[in-house]
Amino acid sequence: MEAQPFGDRHTVQKLETVEKYLQAYVTALKFAPFELLYIDACAGSGSSVPKSVLELANSDQGSLEGFSVPVADTDTIIVGSAIRALGVKPAFHRYLLNDTKQSNVDALRDSIRRDHADLTDKVEITKLDANEMLRGICKSYNWRKTRAVVFLDPFGLQINYEALEMLGKTGAVDLWYLVPVFAMYRQVSGDGEINLDGGPRVDAALGTRAWRDVAVVEEQTTDLFSQPHFRSKRAVDIAWFEKVAKERIGAAFQGQVLDETLPLGRNGMQEFSLMFAWANTGEKARLAAKLASAVLK
Ligand SMILES: C[S@@+](CC[C@H](N)C(=O)[O-])C[C@H]1O[C@@H](n2cnc3c(N)ncnc32)[C@H](O)[C@@H]1O
Repeated sequence: MEAQPFGDRHTVQKLETVEKYLQAYVTALKFAPFELLYIDACAGSGSSVPKSVLELANSDQGSLEGFSVPVADTDTIIVGSAIRALGVKPAFHRYLLNDTKQSNVDALRDSIRRDHADLTDKVEITKLDANEMLRGICKSYNWRKTRAVVFLDPFGLQINYEALEMLGKTGAVDLWYLVPVFAMYRQVSGDGEINLDGGPRVDAALGTRAWRDVAVVEEQTTDLFSQPHFRSKRAVDIAWFEKVAKERIGAAFQGQVLDETLPLGRNGMQEFSLMFAWANTGEKARLAAKLASAVLK
């Protein structure tokens, strides 16, 4: 089995939460007259192994960052989102899976052929940028006849706000998004410098530059000779980026974003926030929020 070197307890918590939702979703919509899609825009290779375990097992191989490596010990393998989605019963009508990395796409395809051969007709695997994949899907499906759960599980600031807006406009998508709040926060240094490369990534992820006006403040101090000095400093924390990200997702989803979030990260540090939003404004669709709230408990 090919597994990506990432993940930990928080990875399992994230995956179990989404999996529980998917199971509840297909059960609730079993008799509904819609084509049901599962869309995984950053699907990975189908499994991962905690880095700590890999480093122990492969201590003579140097850095493993960014590589899929063969792993023998099945006890330590974390089954990925796409494979979990393929396990729910009844099955979704279609599974649209995507990753930018060829080795992940190949590994995912192999894994599905081997373990879910009965579902291969329902699966489409693409090797695209997640934003491009989502744009294509939003344009090509008839959203009056389709309902979908979208899982966005990027490593960092890969998802553009326009993609969220397009998903919101379908009126038919439930979204689980692992928002990289720490990656947003760390683009601002303690002395108020916004990273030249990372800052525009935050702009793109939040779909606005307005965060810059709050994240950095100018402070006036006086020196030994009572001369005024100005210095900038960071004025926000990770929780602030979480709040802003939630508001922005809400803005793309007609205000329909769940207040509860699942903070996730290694060693007690919040790196991500798993958030849920639903695009359908109908009364019945409020069930989505109830289900999501229940699985987050
Ligand atoms: C956290 S992993 C996903 C893990 C997967 N959900 C699982 O449960 O195993 C993030 C994935 O996003 C992929 N990725 C990175 N940039 C991407 C992009 N712009 N578009 C699509 N996928 C991307 C990486 O190759 C990686 O496999």
